[in-house]
Amino acid sequence: MATWSAPGKIFLFGEHAVVYGKPGLAMAIKPRVHVTVRRHRNPAPAKSPYIDQCFRELGVRGSVYVSSQMPSSAGLGSSAAVTVATLSAANDEFGLGLEREEIAAIAHRIEQTVQKGRASATDTYVSTMGGLVLIIGDSRRRVLPVNLNLVIGNTQMSHSTSRMVELVAEERERRPNVISPILDAIGALTLEGLRKLDEPRELGRLMNVNHALLDAIGVGHSSLTRLVGAARAAGAFGAKTTGAGGGGCMIALSPRGGKTRITSALDAAGGRAFVTTIDTAGVRKEHDA
Ligand code: MEV
Repeated sequence: MATWSAPGKIFLFGEHAVVYGKPGLAMAIKPRVHVTVRRHRNPAPAKSPYIDQCFRELGVRGSVYVSSQMPSSAGLGSSAAVTVATLSAANDEFGLGLEREEIAAIAHRIEQTVQKGRASATDTYVSTMGGLVLIIGDSRRRVLPVNLNLVIGNTQMSHSTSRMVELVAEERERRPNVISPILDAIGALTLEGLRKLDEPRELGRLMNVNHALLDAIGVGHSSLTRLVGAARAAGAFGAKTTGAGGGGCMIALSPRGGKTRITSALDAAGGRAFVTTIDTAGVRKEHDA
C-alpha cells in the first residue's frame, strides 16, 4: 500500500491571459489531497473518472482511498491534485519508476481525456512540482517561493472553466481591439507582481487591478464582487478572483494578524473562507502502513 499527497493551486496573477500565451503566476496551496493505492486484482470501480483513467493509463489495477479537504469544482485544482497523487501512489505501489515530469505529463493527458479536450496544464504541473510557478506560453518554471498570508473565499457558485474560457474567446473575437490589450495588461501585471512579491501593499494593489481586468473581459460574478469588496473592507492589501471566474473562488492578501477578520468578513458576505499559504513540496510520499 502507498499513500501520496498533492496540493491544490491558485492563480496569483494571469488567469485567462495565459490561454493566449501571456505570463501568469500560479501557486501550490494547502490543503493537500491524500490518496492511498493498494494492489488489488478485482478492485471496486473508483468513484472518480480521473482515478479510473489513472489506472487505465498505467495499465495496473488497485483499490484507492481518497481523503481531501479541498473543495472540488471551485477552481482550486482538486481534480489535478487527485490525479497527481493517484498516479504517484500507483507509481510507488507498482514500482513503475516514473519521474515527476512524467507524472505531470500523464496527469495532464488524463485531465484532457476526462474533460474531453480542454484542461489546464498549469494545474497538474503546479500540483506535481509545488511552489510558485511562472507560466509563459508553453513554458512553466518554478520561481523563488514566498510566504504570503492568503485567505480564500469560495463563492460556492459552480462554474465551468471551459465555458468561461470560451466566453473570453468570444468576447475577444467580438472586440479584439479592446480585449487583446487587456490580456496584454494582465500579462504585464504578472511580471510586475513577480517583482513585488515581498511588498504586500504593492502586491495587493496589483491584485486589485488584475481583478478589475478580469471583470472587464467578462468573467466577473456578483458573488465574487461581494467577496472581494468584503475582503478589502476588512483590511486586505488586495483581493481578486482566482481561476476561471463566473463563480468559484477569490483570494485576499492579508496583513499578518488580519486573517481572522478577513475570514469572518468573507463568511458573513456569504462565502466559505479558509486561510492558506504556499505549499513548496508538490506531490510527496506520506506514511506506508
Ligand atoms: C483556470 O484555473 C485558469 C484559466 O486561465 C484556464 C487555464 O489556465 O487553463 C482560466
